[in-house]
Amino acid sequence: MKKILLLVSILFSLTAAADESAIKLQQGAGLDAVTRNCSTCHSLDYIPMNSVFQERKGWEATVNKMIKVMGAPIKPEDVPPIVDYLTAHYGK
Ligand code: HEC
Repeated sequence: MKKILLLVSILFSLTAAADESAIKLQQGAGLDAVTRNCSTCHSLDYIPMNSVFQERKGWEATVNKMIKVMGAPIKPEDVPPIVDYLTAHYGK
């Protein structure tokens, strides 16, 4: 019984650690579209890492590149909320 408890607490602390290291983007309109569409291939920390030099045009180009070059399956109606969100929160 003690062993089981120990195992459970180890597993629990591992999950807690994973949650803490998960990247947290700023809250705002469009965040769900971003989380849904932009975290399947790489981690969301690509967004803050690239925010220093992107403005609206840059984010539009990035999102289009993800779709056209990387093959991201993003619905056309999700693109405007994604670009708006990125520009508002991670634009320069
Ligand atoms: C189909 C897979 C896929 C999806 C979905 C995807 N990306 Fe990417 N993304 C990539 C690949 C591949 C790279 C380049 C390789 C690397 O650096 O890992 C990349 C690189 C990036 C970069 C680094 C700069 C650059 O232009 O290369 C940013 C910023 C980025 N993605 C943002 C996004 C955003 C925002 C979304 C959601 C709209 C998104 N990605 C969705 C595959 C994807």
